[in-house]
Amino acid sequence: MKRIPIAGPSITQKEIDYVTDAVKSAWYADANKFHARFERAFAAHCGRKHAVSLPSCTSGLHLALLALGIGRGDEVIVPDATWIASVAPVVYVGATPVFADIDARTWCLCPDAFESLITPRTKAAIVVDLYGSMPNWDRLAEIAAPHGIALIEDAAEAVGSRWHDRPAGSFGVMSAFSFHGSKTLTTGEGGMLVLDDDGLLDRVLRQRDHGRAPGDTMFFNEEVGWKYKMSAMQAALGLAQLERIDELVAGKRRIYGWYREELAEWIGGSLNPDVSGLYNSYWMTTVVLRREIGLTKETTVPCLREQGVDARPFFYPLSGIPAFRDTPQGGAARVRNVNSYLVSPYGINLPSALALERAEVAQVSATLREIVRTSSRSTVPGFTRA
Ligand SMILES: Cc1ncc(COP(=O)(O)O)c(C=O)c1O
Repeated sequence: MKRIPIAGPSITQKEIDYVTDAVKSAWYADANKFHARFERAFAAHCGRKHAVSLPSCTSGLHLALLALGIGRGDEVIVPDATWIASVAPVVYVGATPVFADIDARTWCLCPDAFESLITPRTKAAIVVDLYGSMPNWDRLAEIAAPHGIALIEDAAEAVGSRWHDRPAGSFGVMSAFSFHGSKTLTTGEGGMLVLDDDGLLDRVLRQRDHGRAPGDTMFFNEEVGWKYKMSAMQAALGLAQLERIDELVAGKRRIYGWYREELAEWIGGSLNPDVSGLYNSYWMTTVVLRREIGLTKETTVPCLREQGVDARPFFYPLSGIPAFRDTPQGGAARVRNVNSYLVSPYGINLPSALALERAEVAQVSATLREIVRTSSRSTVPGFTRA
């Protein structure tokens, strides 16, 4: 049986040519020529002054916290429903993560939940553009400003999304992207941190290069830092992908449109919601099953996989996973974060690889409908056992 993959890139001759060029020529004095082009173009794409290419988005979030001087005794607010990489860097620097509820419409940080959790120790919030969706950034900025809270945008999944015509990557003091192999724009593994502030850039550049001053040629380290860099081959791949970004985002939006058509009459669940002012790049088309039909992601995802459909579960709320569930923050959040626990159990990421064809989307949709029709224990009309 041919499996339908959950995610995967679009690679053309352009990517092959750029990477080949990098392998042949990006050495010695030219070692950074692709980094420079990729960073310049990516900063422009986000409307930012600076971009720093990195091995991952996780390292970008880590550097953001380090540059802001966040550490022990500080609290950082993060949405409860996200990938663990959004919060792991908070733990790396010794700060305390505080899990806030998501907005049921956007699946991103709920501004009221954010506001209610602010204490004198709150120094930052890591705000996630989940699955390509985006939160109400204006409201979040309004709430954060009087408290001096730094907003860090986790745009790992949102390249190409826009909120009121501002691109993902232009919000908050710094924004981090992921170029993991599953992402819309990929370098295999990789990431980018974008920002405007020259002082923060200086801190980022030192921390990502073993505490060396930018431009140091004497290998004279001023402090102990980290080693967070991307290779020239990855930068070349990223540059080629970025030059095709409109096509890549159009591909994701086309896939989402196909699912919308295939599942138009279906009442078993709903797809990524339409939010006013949001241009969603739909990194992953996601369905949230209707609770009344009595099926969860845990029962449905394995059935889809058995039938060759590589679906994925919506991220578990961080407060409920073993890594955090026994912490005081985890316990409190589980009681408080109603929306995270209403959406996550029923959410399923559907195959959204860029190579997907219309017929495969039809097949996934038919498989999902059939699983729901035959497995549901509900008495909702249309969902009783055949
Ligand atoms: C929301 C979110 N944040 C951060 C990351 C981390 O990205 P990376 O794997 O590049 O470190 C990911 C990766 O999938 C993600 O989905």
